Amino acid sequence: MTMFDALTDEQETFVAPPVGVRRLLATGDPSLRTHLATFGPLPAVDGLGGVDGVTAALEEAGLAGRGGAAFPTWRKVASAAESGRAAIVVANGSEGEPMSAKDATLLHQSPHLVLDGLLLVAGVLRASEAHLVTTDGQLAPLQRAIAERADARGVRVRTTEDRFVSGEASAVANAIERGRAIPRDHVVRLSIAGIAGRPTLVLNVETLAHIAVIVRFGAAWFRSVGTADDPGTRLLTVAVDGTRRVVEAAGGTSLRRALEATGVAVESVRAVLVGGYHGAWATGEALDAPISAAGLAPFGAAPGAGILIVLSRGHCGVVRAAEIAHYLAGQSAGQCGPCANGLPEIAEVMGRLARRDRDASLPRQLRELGGLVIGRGACHHPDGTTRMVMSALEAFEHDVHAHARGLCQEVA
Ligand SMILES: Cc1cc2nc3c(=O)[nH]c(=O)nc-3n(C[C@H](O)[C@H](O)[C@H](O)COP(=O)(O)O)c2cc1C
Ligand code: SF4
Repeated sequence: MTMFDALTDEQETFVAPPVGVRRLLATGDPSLRTHLATFGPLPAVDGLGGVDGVTAALEEAGLAGRGGAAFPTWRKVASAAESGRAAIVVANGSEGEPMSAKDATLLHQSPHLVLDGLLLVAGVLRASEAHLVTTDGQLAPLQRAIAERADARGVRVRTTEDRFVSGEASAVANAIERGRAIPRDHVVRLSIAGIAGRPTLVLNVETLAHIAVIVRFGAAWFRSVGTADDPGTRLLTVAVDGTRRVVEAAGGTSLRRALEATGVAVESVRAVLVGGYHGAWATGEALDAPISAAGLAPFGAAPGAGILIVLSRGHCGVVRAAEIAHYLAGQSAGQCGPCANGLPEIAEVMGRLARRDRDASLPRQLRELGGLVIGRGACHHPDGTTRMVMSALEAFEHDVHAHARGLCQEVA
């Protein structure tokens, strides 16, 4: 096994007790009976006031997407309804990030909440098709859940490739339409012309599960947990020591609290890569920041899909960032020059820095290369990769300079 294989190997996953309240993972067993006993029936679409009623509830709840970009969910639903044409709704359970396990955990433990959210959104948009895209491991629990209820028989479930960019929204649309999960150019938005030219709404499976509880219990109930700018709960995956620990945490939970809740000894933490492989490195006082857009913004980070990758003391951030850059370069879909050529170059220079090549110009070379690829892909893969590398240069500044002089404080 190379040091890069270690990043993609299947890892053990644990579910930790919640921070605050357990909502999405409340049932403990995935059966329809327990789901109905816990949450009650899904309200009829007709009683929700149509698209306007549902979008108003989602806006009041302040729900932001849990797939990475944190876009306000109400706006996405409203924009899919704008054309008046029948939309296609897609539940995105691709979870392409190897360190993430929250979507798989949700699909195993609470598949009916995800199906409820999908059916609800499809119903309110009078959608012509409802799809659920996921990876092989989640197929059996989903099929069992669908077999338990007549209303979900029309949901088309398909598996996608287990690759980093497969979960990007346009790649998910391509997988459904053409059988290949590669991103497409975003010149025309999916909400205007996606699958088969129809308005297409792609929502993360966790986002759909939150919708399922908001339409049942209301926006005020959703906001009764969390903070004003980060209402409700979110699922987090804490990746540490070869394990992935999933926890449902109240909005506004600090990084430190999330680490403690998943059994991580915070004093042993050197840094946390917040938001997964496309995220930013948090160190020092950033560990006390709330895991919210507003809380992490001063540190150049964002919650993304709730992935927290722990770098323990005694490990070198430069080496870890180089491993991740190498992995991400290999995940380019190879369609856009700046991504297909630029990311391997970035990974190569990062690799030289990690190997402590004595070359003081390496950090500058990385900044220049980053400037050449950022914003120049059909999807955000080059941007996310560059963000992670640039953030490593800042967070591990002392190590970067030491490496460029042939030294490393962490690795002998
Ligand atoms: C390279 C890349 C990979 C992505 N992978 C995923 C993924 O695995 N799952 C996911 O839900 N969203 C993923 N996204 C985000 C999706 O494009 C999209 O924003 C999301 O599914 C929308 O759902 P939301 O509004 O509920 O967050 C990815 C984005 C990029 C740029
Ligand atoms: S930016 Fe990269 S990953 Fe995204 S579509 Fe282009 S080549 Fe593929």
